[in-house]
Amino acid sequence: MKKKKIVFATNNAHKLAEIRSMLKGKMEILSLRDIDCHGDIPETADTLEENALIKARFVYTHYGYDCFADDTGLEVKALGGAPGVHTARYAYPDRQDPEANTRKLLAELKDKTDRSARFRTVIALIEKGNEHLFEGVVEGIIATEERGTEGFGYDPVFAPENTGKTFAELGVEIKNRISHRARAVQQLCDFLNENDL
Ligand code: IMP
Repeated sequence: MKKKKIVFATNNAHKLAEIRSMLKGKMEILSLRDIDCHGDIPETADTLEENALIKARFVYTHYGYDCFADDTGLEVKALGGAPGVHTARYAYPDRQDPEANTRKLLAELKDKTDRSARFRTVIALIEKGNEHLFEGVVEGIIATEERGTEGFGYDPVFAPENTGKTFAELGVEIKNRISHRARAVQQLCDFLNENDL
């Protein structure tokens, strides 16, 4: 029997490999490149949920494939949930600069005693026109300085709770077991496996 095809609205090789291994070859996961979708899909909404839905709907409407898309935000309590939906472009609204983002975050928290934060990933799935949302959260704190060398983005300053280490110190293998994205992907995979999609 031919494998069902589904698009993951990304070209990020790491994300594609992660989900392909979790679905154990049950489905064929196509990237945006695989379906010749090369334009930038706008991420202009005010919530992670809407941004993920915009991307999944774009692919479903224009290319006719079932599709899922993700969006992630870092939500810092003392900053009222910021940078949240603006996590990727926190320092500069027009471009992504991970080092500048981290510097800005540390500066904003300089005098704050409550450094609690969480990473939240939302995945939107559109399957035969039906929309589903999945969420993965990891609670933690923002360290007072950058620590560790692995990972990307805010990993050197985000320490998941009960570890005393940043994601960049814990390393990719441990991070990928407990991260926000791993938890959201697990929810999605459980749904796809349970519903035999
Ligand atoms: P995206 O929605 O996966 O593109 O994530 C948005 C932004 O959140 C990225 O540009 C990163 O700055 C940040 N981010 C997402 N996931 C992680 C993570 O696992 N570690 C550190 N930063 C992350």
